[in-house]
Amino acid sequence: MKVYAINGSPRKNKNTATLLQRVLDGVVQVAKDKEIETEIINLYDLNYTGCRSCFACKRLEGKSYGKCAVKDDIQEILEKLSQADGIIFGSPVYWDNISGQLHSFLERLLFPYLVYDKNLSTIAPKRMPTAFIYTMGSPEEIMENLNYKLTFSKFESFIERIFTKPQVMYCNDTYQFDDYSKYESTFFSEEAKATHRKVQFPFDSQKAFELGARLIK
Ligand SMILES: Cc1cc2nc3c(=O)[nH]c(=O)nc-3n(C[C@H](O)[C@H](O)[C@H](O)COP(=O)(O)O)c2cc1C
Repeated sequence: MKVYAINGSPRKNKNTATLLQRVLDGVVQVAKDKEIETEIINLYDLNYTGCRSCFACKRLEGKSYGKCAVKDDIQEILEKLSQADGIIFGSPVYWDNISGQLHSFLERLLFPYLVYDKNLSTIAPKRMPTAFIYTMGSPEEIMENLNYKLTFSKFESFIERIFTKPQVMYCNDTYQFDDYSKYESTFFSEEAKATHRKVQFPFDSQKAFELGARLIK
């Protein structure tokens, strides 16, 4: 069995990546007997674009029907994901949305599986469990006031139609850089941020671990 985490942050050891790793730890811990392999895919290491609207994936009797025909760094990854036993998406919030890199990736991953028939049916070869983790500078109240969950629900509902309903987790008020005194950051209280990091992040990590533990039945 293989479970993949898709890191939509450019940073490989910060909030999003750390929580994704904890989810994978949870998967492995609970499914000990199942010989589970895990892998983090760092999107910012890869050269690719969003969907190019070539429609090769919808061309009747075409050799790419139901598949993305664009040849670049994610072609093989999309192929691997079609057979995954679990996929966890992780993104920092950028400009009130998921990161551009993950948005482009999801365009490519999901569109070939959406059929332009009367029911807009879906043809993914496998319906594996999924999850989505969002990390953001905003505290929970601001996330609620800005209605982030509504924005996030758009991709979540496509993921549900195509694969399965994602389990969702939010990590708020994240610590963005190591030493706030070195950056213009008077908008924030470093003390409050540091305390939140110290007190809340371990809970978030545990939540991520538990999410992983629930993911594969
Ligand atoms: C370009 C950019 C835009 C951001 N926009 C938002 C935003 O709209 N809302 C928010 O809550 N945080 C925003 N943030 C903060 C990040 O979402 C937050 O620090 C996140 O946890 C970073 O994830 P990482 O540590 O995995 O890279 C932004 C950060 C950057 C670099």
